[in-house]
Amino acid sequence: MAEPLRSLRATALDRALLPLHRWVWQDPGRRALKLLRFAETEADGGRDLSRAAEVTRDPLLRRLYLRHAQDEERHAHLFRARGRELLHSLPRGGSVSFEANFFAPGERGLDDLHVESEGDESLLAFLHLSEEAAAQRFVIYQKSLAHDPETRDLFRRILHDEAFHMSYTHAQLTRIAGPRTRRRIWQARLGRLWKAYLRVAAALAGVIGSLILRVQYFVLLPPFVFLARRAARREPEGFAPSRALPDARSQY
Ligand SMILES: [Fe+2]
Ligand SMILES: [Fe+2]
Repeated sequence: MAEPLRSLRATALDRALLPLHRWVWQDPGRRALKLLRFAETEADGGRDLSRAAEVTRDPLLRRLYLRHAQDEERHAHLFRARGRELLHSLPRGGSVSFEANFFAPGERGLDDLHVESEGDESLLAFLHLSEEAAAQRFVIYQKSLAHDPETRDLFRRILHDEAFHMSYTHAQLTRIAGPRTRRRIWQARLGRLWKAYLRVAAALAGVIGSLILRVQYFVLLPPFVFLARRAARREPEGFAPSRALPDARSQY
């Protein structure tokens, strides 16, 4: 377990953006909310892994998935406890409006993968990449938290488990898939890229949608308001006699 941990490094992009990561983790309120959110995704991942243990026919994988699920559940508990601690230490009335989740998302777990519809090989490949990404992120979070040693140590402890998850999923994939290992990892990588694209596209669609609504509100609506006000000025005040009907005695 020590070897993958030693060789773990944050991505070049994250290393270049270290000052930005430091800024994201600087605010104690944001830090607390992020840890609470991480707790949710870790618990979610733990539930998915329990389901994967139920579904797999491989006894060794079942044992490993169950241990993995317990690890994620423990991470959820640790993140939740620290998040609450930080939240309670905040002065009253403080608020955080920007969590920067897109920039610092934590561990994504199975990322809404349908465990039942995946085979062992594709699930292991996907898990390996997810755990690797999480471990690399936790390295940079740990580096960004020099001002909060307690939270930094929490990431350090969790990083040990993530390194184990990363290495066991690769070892098991090699055992099961043999020569197909690389292909499976590439397929999983493409799947993750597609999901990342969908996330960006959905975020962009949200921004464009709200922009179009604003343009409509400020550009298209004012002429109608002007016309409605002008028409209202022409209307006589108070009650007015109704239009005379041609013949009100019959409906025909
Ligand atoms: Fe985890
Ligand atoms: Fe993990």
